Amino acid sequence: MPTVMRALTVYLFSLPMFWLSACSEAAPAPAPSDANPLPLDGAALYRSKNCLTCHGKDRSGTMLAPSLHGLAAHWSAEDLASFLREPKPWLAKNERLATTAANYRSPMPPTFGTDAERLALAQWLLAQP
Ligand code: HEC
Repeated sequence: MPTVMRALTVYLFSLPMFWLSACSEAAPAPAPSDANPLPLDGAALYRSKNCLTCHGKDRSGTMLAPSLHGLAAHWSAEDLASFLREPKPWLAKNERLATTAANYRSPMPPTFGTDAERLALAQWLLAQP
């Protein structure tokens, strides 16, 4: 390294501002999408996962599926998320659901997506009247 460069480097390292900026560059603030993902929007998931096709836009049910009003009386968020992931086993262990299912031609299909999406959907559903 030429002497001038070395002198310059030594000088730069001696400056507090150099260390301050070096440190703040070493630990950049994580991108918002990594650190704080936007909260999942239950209402949007209800639409994007096509729940409304069978349960209706206002969740009042159609000839394909029952009403989804008042679910908080029957479900915890975790159980509901599990039901959404795989509905079928729940019919065997929940008589009310089995009776409901008997009224419809096709069963509730599994909800594809992530666990976080299903939990957000479940929490949103339970918060609705
Ligand atoms: C193809 C029609 C269909 C679609 C699409 C569908 N469901 Fe269902 N769903 C049903 C049927 C039929 C039942 C009755 C129980 C069963 O068959 O498992 C049901 C039951 C339910 C229940 C239980 C209701 C209760 O009384 O406890 C919930 C909650 C539910 N669905 C939520 C959803 C959500 C959320 C979506 C979208 C991710 C969705 N469903 C998509 C047909 C559907």
